[in-house]
Amino acid sequence: ILLAGAALLALSVGASAQTVGFSQIGSESGWRAAETTLTRQQAEERGYTLQFSDAQQRQENQIAAIRSFVAQGVDAILLAPVVATGWDAVLQEAKEAEIPVVLLDRQVDSSDDLYLTAVGSDLVHEGKVAGEWLASEVGDNNCRVVELQGTTGSSPAIDRAKGFRDGIAGKANIEIVRSQTGDFTRTLGKSVMESFLQAESGGKDICALYAHNDDMAIGAIQAIKEAGLKPGQDIKIVSIDAVPDIFQAMAAGEANATVELTPNMAGPAFDALEAFWKDGTEPSKFIQTESKLYTQADDPSGEYERRKDLGY
Ligand code: AHR
Repeated sequence: ILLAGAALLALSVGASAQTVGFSQIGSESGWRAAETTLTRQQAEERGYTLQFSDAQQRQENQIAAIRSFVAQGVDAILLAPVVATGWDAVLQEAKEAEIPVVLLDRQVDSSDDLYLTAVGSDLVHEGKVAGEWLASEVGDNNCRVVELQGTTGSSPAIDRAKGFRDGIAGKANIEIVRSQTGDFTRTLGKSVMESFLQAESGGKDICALYAHNDDMAIGAIQAIKEAGLKPGQDIKIVSIDAVPDIFQAMAAGEANATVELTPNMAGPAFDALEAFWKDGTEPSKFIQTESKLYTQADDPSGEYERRKDLGY
């Protein structure tokens, strides 16, 4: 009884005493920068100490950060996993140390008893929404699509590729003719798009670009303009994230559609952790955030204004 009382007392210690380790992937995109900013803000508002670690896109850096958080005895760990595989051992170490781990925005292939919960969107659904948008946009016209994929081996790259194919399934007039990773960055989005344009008669044979995030689409828009074509008109562009810059491009007629991914993953993650710390409440294994499609008809200038100061 005494032990149970002590455990309850420990659980009911105010949230202000908590230290949370955050293993972030890096800063490859505007969306990622916003997620970092919002996580820092949320931690500060709730009175937590946030130990932040930037992995610079490397899984080994994330594994080292998690081991360091475990050694420090933090109260929880947030992990945005760069790739889906290879986490079992380190997650097991956190579990044995009784430190709850919350996954942010990407999934892992590990058993779900190795983490408390995962906060994120339905990544397959995002891709499907993008594919369905393109299918309705082109109707029965033939359309050769090029695809800029996210980081190889990451759950959004795998799931958004699948979802898009689901979205255009049964449309024989739509064909994905080239697909390559742009690693979720503007720089690679631009250079890979340049190679697509070269390979497709200077771009004349391309009807649409599907980019797994807005940053790659923005890099590609630059490449399309430099090739003397009009992005958004000669080549339709659909991507994912809903960062302010893509709304500027949409307002200028240079991009056509985006699917929103909220960067506020920390809010639901911290809510779940607070309930867990308070009385051991176990959240569901997946806390889903919303995915909403925006097109040029959805006031892109207003959407830009609403987001521009949010840390993107
Ligand atoms: O995991 C979410 C993806 O990672 C975002 O779409 C992308 O911008 C980021 O880098």
